[in-house]
Amino acid sequence: MRHTHTPATRVPLRDTPQVYGKISRVLHWTMAVLILWQFFGMGLRAIFGRQDWLAPFVGSHAPVGTALFVLVILRGLWALANRRNRPAHDGGMLGKAATAGHALLYALMLTIPGLALLRAWGSDRAFAPFGFQIFSAKSPEVEWTGNLAGALHGELGWFLLAVIAGHVLMVGVHQAMWRDGTLARMAGRRN
Ligand code: HEM
Repeated sequence: MRHTHTPATRVPLRDTPQVYGKISRVLHWTMAVLILWQFFGMGLRAIFGRQDWLAPFVGSHAPVGTALFVLVILRGLWALANRRNRPAHDGGMLGKAATAGHALLYALMLTIPGLALLRAWGSDRAFAPFGFQIFSAKSPEVEWTGNLAGALHGELGWFLLAVIAGHVLMVGVHQAMWRDGTLARMAGRRN
């Protein structure tokens, strides 16, 4: 009987030109779940306003967002380390659009929590997302950091949701119309 999991079909740790490896996949799907959690909580808050029963969803927003900031840095470094050795896009217009779309996703995933953390740094309240203090309270409060995040954090956040919707839609187009196995690069066992 043939083994179904021969080394050639196993997902490698590092990326290859055919598939994303285990590390990229763990980063991708962990971040996908955590980012959706952020939108779920903020969506509930946008619909129902500030209510006590929303505390479990909204109260986790800053710590989960802080974790996402760390994860996107690790993911970016991992992407750089694997840049010559991961699935490439083709050189045409659509391939260039995919590269630009992914660059936009990375930029937003970095900027959105980055702005919120900058606001937390300048705040007149200490920032202790996991029970230990990361930023001390500023006195007086640093105003520009709060204004900048106030103007951009939420707006860019919702924009990210729209870009993610486009990202998922394009995977759907790859699967249903072009049938080129794009999803299997990040989710499948074989290339
Ligand atoms: C990738 C990570 C994050 C995403 C996707 C995200 C997304 C969002 C969204 C969509 C909103 C709702 C805006 C509105 O009400 O219209 C929001 C609000 C908020 N977020 Fe985040 N966030 C992230 C990280 C963080 C972090 C790290 C912090 C704290 C350090 C934070 C603190 C806040 C606060 C205080 C608000 C309410 C005030 C405001 O809208 O600026 N967020 N976030």
